[in-house]
Amino acid sequence: MELIKLKIEFQQALEKIEDEKALDDLRVKYLGRKGVVTDLLNELKNMPPEQKREAGNKINSFKREVDLMLEEKRQLLITSSKSLKNEWFDISIPGLKHPRGHFHPRTIIMRQAESIFQSMGFSIVDGPELETDWYNFEALNIPKEHPARDMQDTFYVENPEDGSDLVMRTQTSPVQVRFMEKNAPPLRIIAPGRVFRREATDASHDYQFYQIEGLMVDKHISVADFKGVIAEFFKRFYGKKVDVRLRPSYFPFTEPSFEIDISCVFCNKKGCRICSNGGWLEVAGAGMVNQIVFESAGYARNEWQGFAFGFGFERLVMMKYKVDDIRLLNSGDLRFLKQF
Ligand code: DAH
Repeated sequence: MELIKLKIEFQQALEKIEDEKALDDLRVKYLGRKGVVTDLLNELKNMPPEQKREAGNKINSFKREVDLMLEEKRQLLITSSKSLKNEWFDISIPGLKHPRGHFHPRTIIMRQAESIFQSMGFSIVDGPELETDWYNFEALNIPKEHPARDMQDTFYVENPEDGSDLVMRTQTSPVQVRFMEKNAPPLRIIAPGRVFRREATDASHDYQFYQIEGLMVDKHISVADFKGVIAEFFKRFYGKKVDVRLRPSYFPFTEPSFEIDISCVFCNKKGCRICSNGGWLEVAGAGMVNQIVFESAGYARNEWQGFAFGFGFERLVMMKYKVDDIRLLNSGDLRFLKQF
């Protein structure tokens, strides 16, 4: 009786099995009523009694082994077919797209404006949002009781060190003085940044907004230089020729001072809702730097000439994207922001 050989044959047959039907067939072949094991047991009859017992034991343990291995295989078939069904996935299905972030409309426009000024030789500089009264007002020729202070409602902050007044800067103009203190002319800078006003809000006013300050200083700078720079800026910014108009105005830190208008980029001076039918849009304050400001920064009086300007930056963004309420820009409202 070749039990060892039978066992090897069985194992080889078992290995090839891939489904439960074939497994059942194998069980019948070995353990069925007319199966291999039954045949073996039948042969016992013809054996001499002294061998019967040992042979019987061997056949029975073979039977148990076969039974066990069949059961193991059955479990294996069940689990592997389950996991195949569960874990199968189609690697050719397109993946889920991650939503892609983007810049705030203000950032997009700010970068455009910055790169235009940079290409004209202006450097970009920075200053603090929490300012001293000196830089925000005094150094710019706005002394304590000056009525010009009323033009800019101010958030005052008490300095915890000495109780003196600090202010949330109401304008980016203090950066002019800070920069000139540390740098000698000739110079060309812009200072973009956030400013604060203690004001009620409406569609065109917010209590925090951005300005772009500009300053150019050299021996012989004139209003014509200013007009040339500003016309070139707007031509590139809007991608078309824009007329620039200067109107007389007053700022303590410039002399003479003017208001800058550009021809309405929506109707080209024909008159529309955006320009209140005037054909022009007011975009900035500007002027020739007051010698008092040069003195505040430590320059000698009457040695230098320069122009300065301050854009209301949101105005530019709103005109570029046709946004009709400035407060949307600070709202963080995704329904608004997703449009850019
Ligand atoms: N700082 C002014 C404001 O906030 C704007 C301004 C006007 C800036 C004239 C300038 C300037 O540099 O020359 O209203």
